[in-house]
Amino acid sequence: MRIFDTHAHYCDEAFDADRAEVLAAMQANGIERIAEVGTSVEISKQAVDLAAEYDFIYATVGIHPETVNSEQLTVNSLDELRELAKAPKVVAIGEIGLDYHYEGYDKASQSQWFTAQLELARELKLPVCVHSRDAAEDTFRLLEPFGDLKIMLHCFSGSVETAKIAALRGYYISIGGVLTFKNAKTLPEVAAVYPRERVLLETDCPYLSPTPLRGSRNSSLNLPLIAEKLAEIWNVSPGEAAETTYANGNRFYNL
Ligand code: NI
Repeated sequence: MRIFDTHAHYCDEAFDADRAEVLAAMQANGIERIAEVGTSVEISKQAVDLAAEYDFIYATVGIHPETVNSEQLTVNSLDELRELAKAPKVVAIGEIGLDYHYEGYDKASQSQWFTAQLELARELKLPVCVHSRDAAEDTFRLLEPFGDLKIMLHCFSGSVETAKIAALRGYYISIGGVLTFKNAKTLPEVAAVYPRERVLLETDCPYLSPTPLRGSRNSSLNLPLIAEKLAEIWNVSPGEAAETTYANGNRFYNL
């Protein structure tokens, strides 16, 4: 089984104590490729460094909508991202988008930064990892003028209707631990009908461990549990589900 974790955060402090040990176990367990995702200028730098250190890790650079809420961003931040994006193993801009989940978010600032980074992706001809929470309508509206870009909706949490629009627009969706949750009803329905050639696997680790490991620190080593669940929904073998999503990951990131 070959697996591509298309969205992970190994630079997170949750891995400070044993990052090297965790990453050393990946390839022997079928985790062939990992995309380490930036959420701020600083974390994007760390992602680029991690990718330089490990053959099987690739980096994305971007400013997360929640970072937009908490950090003063300047025109320099965009220039810094542009410079970082030129590193050899940077495969996408992300994660960028909109997050209206917690009170106090700054809608104007989030949309301004989302659009600016979509323009950066266009300029650099890179795919985009999109984070969208409780903001589907605005996300789709802001994405509309960027039909030329390759888009992934990470940790897809939309309705079947939203998934239909995403499929029509040719977006990839990325699926993680939520697929295995006992109360997850919509995501299995989406996974069943979404075009298989545009479905990706991700952990979003250290968050969102699959059942039965919910609540514990997540890592790419848990992805076989999600591949198994997806295989059940697709009515194929776990190996085939893994292989399909692995090929999709390579195609999405141009690897
Ligand atoms: Ni993430």
